[in-house]
Amino acid sequence: MKRGLFMHYDFNQVITRHHTNSVKYDCAKYFCPGIPDDFIPMWVADMDFATPDDVKNAMIERIKKSIFGYTYITDPDYNAAIIGWMNRRFSWNIQKYTIIPCNGVVNALHHFVTLMTNPGEGVIIQPPVYPQFFNSIEMEGRKVVCNNLLYNDGYYTIDFDDLEQKAQDSKNTLMFVCSPHNPVGRVWTVKELQKIGTICLQNNVRIVCDEVHHDLTRKNIVHTPLASLFPDNPNIYTCTSPGKTFNLSGNNLANIITCDPTLPQLWSSIFHESASPLAVAAVQTAYSLCDGWVDELRAYLDDNFQYLQKFLEKYLPKAQFKIPEGMYLAWIDFSSYEPDADKLYHKLCIDAGVVVQSGSHFHSNLTGYIRMNIACPRSVLSEALNRIAAVL
Ligand SMILES: Cc1ncc(COP(=O)(O)O)c(C=O)c1O
Repeated sequence: MKRGLFMHYDFNQVITRHHTNSVKYDCAKYFCPGIPDDFIPMWVADMDFATPDDVKNAMIERIKKSIFGYTYITDPDYNAAIIGWMNRRFSWNIQKYTIIPCNGVVNALHHFVTLMTNPGEGVIIQPPVYPQFFNSIEMEGRKVVCNNLLYNDGYYTIDFDDLEQKAQDSKNTLMFVCSPHNPVGRVWTVKELQKIGTICLQNNVRIVCDEVHHDLTRKNIVHTPLASLFPDNPNIYTCTSPGKTFNLSGNNLANIITCDPTLPQLWSSIFHESASPLAVAAVQTAYSLCDGWVDELRAYLDDNFQYLQKFLEKYLPKAQFKIPEGMYLAWIDFSSYEPDADKLYHKLCIDAGVVVQSGSHFHSNLTGYIRMNIACPRSVLSEALNRIAAVL
């Protein structure tokens, strides 16, 4: 396959990931018993592309320093790199904000639940949504309060009347916003974000906004950080991460951005999270040097989505699919081919050997949907789609 005329990076390269302790590859048979040996993993949300060379080289340079002891990030260049990225990519000036590094966004979600709510209180979420939103609330003994998204002709919107009702209930004190939204692929508009923020803040509901997918929007689709619309508001906590953008999720280093003056001390007094020294080098470099790599990655993902859409139109025309506004995850309704969730999962994972995520993971009563990770070389995507078409 030819690389684009102006591409500098080779996203077509197929890299073997077996025997690297990869969850997506080496744990697939554990989570999905019965899949064939030549399975294609399109479930876990990491990419099959090499991380940028600048990032790899930064880690190698750090390795040369030989010692990897406990690490708290004190180098101002780390924060400067994040401030620069948010400014360049989202026109968001976070100079006055505090940046709190943490061991991944999922851990942070658990921490926010314990820090900001009392046992039994409600946390509002918007299903279908990333399963860890449910887990982090339930596992910490709080109540999941669903403000279900509205669905109309392949497009999801927010039920603001319902959100207002739930926010007005004084037992609901926190909301997790997923922006861009996993799995439905919406990149919320400024108007929608303003409305979410206004409803929550007027009703004393604090907001944790999970923006881990913020960098990978489609061409011409702009992500707006929710907190940027409410400058200096101390009740909004933005979770960002280089994990999705630069394929660094295994490094487990994310960043919380906040104006809440009480959070840094509270966080550090309770959670003793040393950062991986290699992760620190990687993150700082990624946010400093890798704009061009991300631009090309976005173009490649856009093309993968076009490829997927054309394939479905031609070979599986009864599938319901719209190219998502953000992320590298396709949300596909195959219910016209197989309405039963378990049977669909079996056909795709076991019969076709394409390991996808069942829609029921994102909302218990969803059937016929799958989430498919298309952040892979086009040749792999093509093979996976041919296999799926053969079994449906
Ligand atoms: C919305 C969302 N938040 C958080 C995560 C995981 O973040 P982390 O790896 O930093 O824990 C994911 C991973 O798929 C995600 O989709």
